[in-house]
Amino acid sequence: MSLDKDVRSAAEMVLSCKSATVISHIDADGISSESILSQAISRAGIPVRSIYIRQLDPLTLHEIPDDDSLKIFSDFGSGQQTMLQEKGIRSKDVVIIDHHVSQPADAGYLEVNCLLHGFEKMSAAGVAYLVAREMDEINRDLAKLAVIGNIGDMMDRENLKLSGPAHEILSDGVGYGNVEVWEHDLNIYGISTRPLPNALAYSDDIDIPGVSHDPDGARRFLERIGIRPVSANRWPVWESLTIEEKQIIVCSIIDQMMACEKNLDRLFADHYLFPDESKIQATLRNASEYATLLNSCGRWKRPELGGAICRGDRVTAYREAEQMLKNHRTKIREVMEYITDTGVSELSHLLYIHVGDRFPDTIVGIGAGMSLSRLNPEKPILIMCEDSLDPSKTKISMRTKPEVVDKGVDLQKALCIACERFDGSSGGGHRIAAGAFIPREAEREFIEDVNRIIKQQYAQKSSDSC
Ligand code: C5P
Ligand code: C5P
Repeated sequence: MSLDKDVRSAAEMVLSCKSATVISHIDADGISSESILSQAISRAGIPVRSIYIRQLDPLTLHEIPDDDSLKIFSDFGSGQQTMLQEKGIRSKDVVIIDHHVSQPADAGYLEVNCLLHGFEKMSAAGVAYLVAREMDEINRDLAKLAVIGNIGDMMDRENLKLSGPAHEILSDGVGYGNVEVWEHDLNIYGISTRPLPNALAYSDDIDIPGVSHDPDGARRFLERIGIRPVSANRWPVWESLTIEEKQIIVCSIIDQMMACEKNLDRLFADHYLFPDESKIQATLRNASEYATLLNSCGRWKRPELGGAICRGDRVTAYREAEQMLKNHRTKIREVMEYITDTGVSELSHLLYIHVGDRFPDTIVGIGAGMSLSRLNPEKPILIMCEDSLDPSKTKISMRTKPEVVDKGVDLQKALCIACERFDGSSGGGHRIAAGAFIPREAEREFIEDVNRIIKQQYAQKSSDSC
């Protein structure tokens, strides 16, 4: 079966249903997937309602409605098919739109999953868009939301650009006119909203001597090369600079990095901009910042706000979402500071830390991922916290770097194997980022198991390459 064939089957199934329920994940990819699917379905004249779930697991299974609607699972479902089967959900009532590792069940659910066809660098929103476009060509305007989902799930991070089917979807957005690509641009975050010194100082991917992690140093650097605030203390954003100004900055960064023999490999990346968004709602002007805004809604229990923004609400929902974003940024910073101040414990093949009930389980993984570059990036980080729905459980999040995945590490597999030993645990995700819920009393044994499994993964890779 090809991805196209699965996409066609899903589109047919959706178009022939009487009503649909979209059950989607709470992060940027889940929210953009939901918005693509529910807009395409309602444009087809089919009644649709949406439910967001933090993760499809035994504690949230009751949220799936017990009715005759077609259940469309997006950004999860592939790894939870046995659970759906055990709940008695029939295959004629299910479509799964996903990009996580699949664990099929006998029920034979229709699963549209790019990973099953070898496309690793596409998110659920990309798959959702392919189905929406197959349903009707008028849905091409929704390619923009698929770009946001792909960027939210970091599908561009390894190559610093979207590739494969995610790149084709990008071309649909460019063709439609609501997406613009700035190729091979400076690899910084916050090009539409962050004052330039902050954007340069706090972009994790590049290490500029005297500038990185030092906003005062960044200000001095800019002033020295003739780039100044637009008015007292108000610095321009990257998006608003002229080509000449950008050239001056990039050349000076290269000089500074080369003088200190820094690696320039990750200096440039593609940016995806949305010319249809107003500069007043600047957070929505590019895919990375738009995705962070959606994440801040979803991960703080207001995914429907993100959904409203994806559907075009630029007043009420946007205003509320801006407050969510402010809070999200503060809390992520607090997670990172907590990790740095407390310090992580180290086993032979991983770093770990327990944050108790200080932070919600929906954000600790993001904080841990962002802390990695300040820790020992050679080892994956495992962060534990109390499960917000069931304090007898511990939520695990793991993150690592592409270089570590290249050496054979697969966090999804490691967590799933470790979960097999403990009743009531479930895990999943990707090679580079994965999560699990485990019984609280199993924490110590679980970490040691994961450490041992990762050690085996390294050994396996090196014996394979001998
Ligand atoms: O459930 P899901 O796959 O959507 O979660 C993806 C999460 O994994 C992202 O929010 C991000 O924190 C993390 N991730 C990552 N690096 C990648 C891909 C995903 O840290 N390359
Ligand atoms: O929650 P967190 O951001 O750490 O999740 C990382 C990845 O692991 C996501 O793709 C998420 O969908 C997946 N995950 C999972 N099962 C869990 C927890 C997380 O598949 N129990």
